[in-house]
Amino acid sequence: MTEPTSKPVASPILVTGGTGTLGQLVVPRLRDAGFDVRVLSRQIRKGREGIEFVIGDLDRGEGIDAAVDGTEIILHCAGSTKGDQDKARNLVRVAARVGVRHLVNISVVGADRIPIASGIDRAMFGYFESKLAAEEVVVHSGLPWTTLRATQFHDLILMTVRAMARLPLIPVPAGFRFQPVEAGEVADRLVELALGDPAGLVPDLAGPRVYEMAELIRGYLRANDKRRPMIPVRLPGKAAHAFRDGANLAPDRAVGIRTWEDFLADRVLQPI
Ligand SMILES: NC(=O)c1ccc[n+]([C@@H]2O[C@H](COP(=O)([O-])OP(=O)(O)OC[C@H]3O[C@@H](n4cnc5c(N)ncnc54)[C@H](OP(=O)(O)O)[C@@H]3O)[C@@H](O)[C@H]2O)c1
Repeated sequence: MTEPTSKPVASPILVTGGTGTLGQLVVPRLRDAGFDVRVLSRQIRKGREGIEFVIGDLDRGEGIDAAVDGTEIILHCAGSTKGDQDKARNLVRVAARVGVRHLVNISVVGADRIPIASGIDRAMFGYFESKLAAEEVVVHSGLPWTTLRATQFHDLILMTVRAMARLPLIPVPAGFRFQPVEAGEVADRLVELALGDPAGLVPDLAGPRVYEMAELIRGYLRANDKRRPMIPVRLPGKAAHAFRDGANLAPDRAVGIRTWEDFLADRVLQPI
């Protein structure tokens, strides 16, 4: 457990990506802990008690001054499949100028272990490269920082297997395994870290069990009372090889509690 920081925080805490899967879970936790929250989003949204929205785009470097102004703690949860290093760079440039005292960054397990050596690697796994580059931006920002790497959230796995299950025959990347984690548990940890002292790269947060990809798909199909044939497909490239070696897993950090089965039981209500 991280000890709460002794310094009181009167200014709002900035949550980038506070409208996303993870950020949406971070915001109410900060409110419950008694903090005002500012959310950076690309779209206009209506604020509510203790929650203010600021329009900005981290890729374009727009609106960041207004978002960061007067904040001391930033939880950087904004992200997309591409360009997270640019988002981080634009954010830290402003944050360093105003002297933010804690930047908390979310990254992904395997960011440092999935090699991007070819165009094929980059096309399929460039996300991991951009997360590692974003981590490095944070390290070199001159700001006090904390980075947490998490495995894939249940929500992302659900989105992926739902899309795959629409196909009459499901191609399954051979040898791929995942260790999905509950986004709410990641949000709990991020808030705990944000309210503690900057801690650098902290131990990974991974879900309670490692699953074969086919097992995750089968669980989804079963929960929907569906059947689909699956065919293993061997993906080319060094990054896919690293995936087959389990570079995206953290079995020694299986500290997540909620299982894929529990998540499915609650969430799989819509037909495929
Ligand atoms: N999903 C996973 O399995 C997983 C696992 C490990 C780590 N992570 C990391 O956790 C973070 C959050 O993931 P998530 O699944 O919650 O993502 P998400 O649901 O796709 O949400 C992405 C968030 O980022 C914001 N965003 C995207 N591009 C932006 C830009 N150019 N400027 C400002 N805001 C931008 C979006 O805000 P608006 O659309 O409102 O502008 C949205 O709030 C990401 O950094 C991701 O890499 C995710």
